[in-house]
Amino acid sequence: MTMKTIISGIQPSGHVHIGNYFGAMKQFVDLQDTCDEMFIFIADYHALTSVKDPALLKDYSRTIVLDYLAIGLDPEKVTLFRQSDVPEHTELAWIFNCITTMPFLMRAHAFKDAEAKNKEINVGKFTYPLLMASDILLYDASHVPVGQDQKQHIEITRDTAEKFNTQYGKTFTLPEAHILDTVKIIPGTNGEKMSKSYNNVIPLFASDEELEKAIMSIATASNSKGTPNDTTDTLFSVLSLFLSKEEVASIGTEYQSGNLGYKDAKELLIQKMIAYTAPMKERRKDFEERDSFISTLLEAGAEKARTRTKAKMKMVRERIGIIS
Ligand code: ADP
Ligand code: TRP
Repeated sequence: MTMKTIISGIQPSGHVHIGNYFGAMKQFVDLQDTCDEMFIFIADYHALTSVKDPALLKDYSRTIVLDYLAIGLDPEKVTLFRQSDVPEHTELAWIFNCITTMPFLMRAHAFKDAEAKNKEINVGKFTYPLLMASDILLYDASHVPVGQDQKQHIEITRDTAEKFNTQYGKTFTLPEAHILDTVKIIPGTNGEKMSKSYNNVIPLFASDEELEKAIMSIATASNSKGTPNDTTDTLFSVLSLFLSKEEVASIGTEYQSGNLGYKDAKELLIQKMIAYTAPMKERRKDFEERDSFISTLLEAGAEKARTRTKAKMKMVRERIGIIS
């Protein structure tokens, strides 16, 4: 299937982990050669809903560009930019705020979870899905590669586009989520969804020691070696991300029988992950020393994105009666 226009972003709210990589980022790389155009951005205004330390936000925003380049995104094929450099994203979000009801947004899983956990919910967190809808609809994206947990956000985006189109005339394209069935939700070291906000991550770019520490902390049952294990558990689910199909079958049999114990499986995972990430780390090191290259790249990306968003916003303003 060829995809026309792809857009996606990651929040700079922490260092990226293997859940981000296999759930979303790897798809960006895999699709960059076959789509017509691809926009990948740093969702810094989304991250502001949770990151309150300016130095940290700055650091995460910079490192995520290095991560994008390190995993193999090619700036010749992909427009890379910072969300905050393209003010039309927040401008359109305001317009969406004005056509969306509170009860509609109150049905969002992220809001309901935060409320159930008695977390403080700022207004930005509440309207988060509408900023995301702007990110996507401004570019008339046809496909949005994301992890499974973002499915509802894409549905909200489609609903918002439909609502606007019905009220003001056809303006926005309805996007499709691109979610890999084979990946689903990658569990973190404690068995819950791996997330930057849950302190349960296996970072994609960590020193060998940090990696070892994170992998050794993966929670397992207390089976002793020789006792059968469950291949749907966290440890084997994570290990299989780094195995070929044949290895999943053969190593899975060993794991199931108990011949491969937890410690052996963790050691194998460390070894596989170090080998898998070695070329990416090499590339990342190279880009780390090229500060001005990165600034130029982001400026050019923002410029290119703005050509699109300015034209789209002109149309939107005319439709809603805000005439310049
Ligand atoms: P986090 O929850 O770590 O803050 P983000 O919300 O920034 O991650 O997600 C960035 C991308 O990575 C999204 O497309 C999201 O669906 C995907 N993603 C995040 N965590 C996982 C996971 N555990 N499994 C699969 N995909 C994930
Ligand atoms: N909400 C996404 C996440 O938490 C990040 C994001 C913001 C995004 N805007 C987007 C993803 C637009 C895809 C398209 O992962």
